[in-house]
Amino acid sequence: MDRGMVIFVGALLTFSSSWLGLILYPYWQMQNEQPYAKTPGDDLYPRPLGGAALAGVKVYQANGCLYCHTQQVRSAKFGNWWEDGQMKTGADIRRGWGTRRTVSRDYIYDRPTMLGTMRTGPDLANVGTRYAEAWHHPHLLNPRAINGWSTMPSFAFLYTREKVVGGQKSDKALKLGREWTVNPGYRWRPTDAEWAAILARRVSTLPDVSQAATPNPFNLTTAAGKAELLAFWLTTDEEDYQVIPTPEAESLVAYLLELRKAETPLPEVKE
Ligand code: HEC
Repeated sequence: MDRGMVIFVGALLTFSSSWLGLILYPYWQMQNEQPYAKTPGDDLYPRPLGGAALAGVKVYQANGCLYCHTQQVRSAKFGNWWEDGQMKTGADIRRGWGTRRTVSRDYIYDRPTMLGTMRTGPDLANVGTRYAEAWHHPHLLNPRAINGWSTMPSFAFLYTREKVVGGQKSDKALKLGREWTVNPGYRWRPTDAEWAAILARRVSTLPDVSQAATPNPFNLTTAAGKAELLAFWLTTDEEDYQVIPTPEAESLVAYLLELRKAETPLPEVKE
């Protein structure tokens, strides 16, 4: 071991050059990034999150949304597709995940940034522009209620199912067919005995069903008519129970609605 010094200096150079190149130089390059306003007095972009949306970041982290969703829109140069025998580029933007690529300035208030690496589900950098609150809640309760083919897990534990008190449902109650709300997180079907008991109470005691069926009543003397009624009844809301978002679900959705990273134009975005 007569080359100790050479090995030491070699290792030092190897580690310090990567530290300089991967940590210090990018830090020095990006440390002074400021929010942007096109003309002085315009609204600044980006803005720090506040209130419920800020609390929602924690819910997003705690539930591992990051493992399946990225928050970075790629440049139009990446992601090729073929159309009429020609290769075209720009898949992320073409898919509607944003109007431009994301850049470092989009993340200056994110601690930590949640760029993500896996796209089991769609990119969420700009999801705030795509859906409203009323879409997110049923989707989080059970993604299959919105997309039958979805592989996203159900986050039913962020919701509570409770009895309606005083005949008046809460404004926050999810408007969702009973097949998704009777046993949140699962798609429910009554057993044969349960369905027979419900039918025995006659259609007129199922208020929504009897109304909707008025112009075209189900023929309950046939098996097909009974099956049609069951299918229809499952898509109507429960009368006595409601599903309500917990504060965690509300703040998570507030955060999702604030995700608009690939929308406001920035001067450094050239493509
Ligand atoms: C196991 C992977 C997985 C996890 C974990 C996951 N998702 Fe998803 N997500 C998906 C898939 C797959 C889709 C596409 C199908 C669909 O719409 O349900 C999706 C779709 C979405 C969409 C709709 C996006 C669009 O553009 O249509 C939103 C919003 C979303 N997820 C939010 C979340 C949130 C919030 C969490 C954490 C609480 C989460 N996801 C956790 C896989 C996942």
